[in-house]
Amino acid sequence: TSKVFNNFYRYYSSINKVGVIGGGQMGTGIAQVLSQTAGKNVVIFDSNKAMLDKSLTFISSQLKRQIEKGKIQEQEQFEILKRISFSDNMESLKDSDFVIEAIVENPEIKTQLFKQLNSVLKPTTILASNTSSISITKLASNYQVPENVIGMHFMNPVPVMQLVEVIPGLQTSSETNNITLELAKKMGKTTTMSKDMPGFIANRLLMPYINEAAQALFEGLGTIEDIDTTMKLGCNMPMGPLTLADFIGLDTCLSIMNVLHANLGDKYKPCPLLVRYVEAGRFGKKNGKGFYSYNK
Ligand code: NAI
Repeated sequence: TSKVFNNFYRYYSSINKVGVIGGGQMGTGIAQVLSQTAGKNVVIFDSNKAMLDKSLTFISSQLKRQIEKGKIQEQEQFEILKRISFSDNMESLKDSDFVIEAIVENPEIKTQLFKQLNSVLKPTTILASNTSSISITKLASNYQVPENVIGMHFMNPVPVMQLVEVIPGLQTSSETNNITLELAKKMGKTTTMSKDMPGFIANRLLMPYINEAAQALFEGLGTIEDIDTTMKLGCNMPMGPLTLADFIGLDTCLSIMNVLHANLGDKYKPCPLLVRYVEAGRFGKKNGKGFYSYNK
């Protein structure tokens, strides 16, 4: 009966504190929406302190822009910021009721993190991963309560994009699933469900398209501008595929292609140009140079 009561209690009580792991572009956006739209208390944990400073600066500038546009009042800005704390100590996650992991898209590093979280999180905490392509079932197998692990795949930029893809793994409980759907709804998002297969729905379709655009550039089919303009004005895409790749991060695009390739076969082989760019440290907009160059 205590288990039943516990489930009942968890299901109906609201999630008070949410931990976000990784204060990069995704974690920062997720934290902002958690505080601003869902009204949650948030802690962002990142192992790199410099990223935490960058994250705070970014959220502040986003809120300032909203004030200028008359979308929020100055007082709301303070309240939104007050609900978010920043830490480079993993222990800061320990009283979180729900944790969203958004660290680098690397299976080994994510696996290691999930193992470390075993000794930090409460057994009732739900652990959602924002992974773009890595198996939720496999990540969950490294965690003490695999029933509490789920995929919660946000889109970039998080405050703007409507969708969250929800991915239950083989072990995910329906309760975890329901609480996750509820949180996504409180964040103002629309959800779709995807089976736990490499890339889920969004990246299974998007990444081969981006990879093919890189391949077209590699083969000299057209210039960067030719390729992007053709897809934008000719196929009504909101932005060209190479611009989009720079926004996502070429390192992230390559990691996703590697997962698709390893699991689904040679049809998904990463384009050599994408590999070279990442080797050269050209990660896209986030560090100033990808297919295009950006002023830092
Ligand atoms: P990012 O490179 O901007 O940020 C990653 C952050 O994780 C960095 O701040 C880094 O310091 C931190 N980090 C790395 N290892 C860590 C560890 N062991 N513990 C704590 N912090 C650690 O990457 P981004 O773009 O924010 O992506 C994060 C995740 O979100 C990835 O899994 C990616 O596939 C996924 N994602 C990315 C999207 C995009 O468009 N960039 C869209 C949807 C999902």
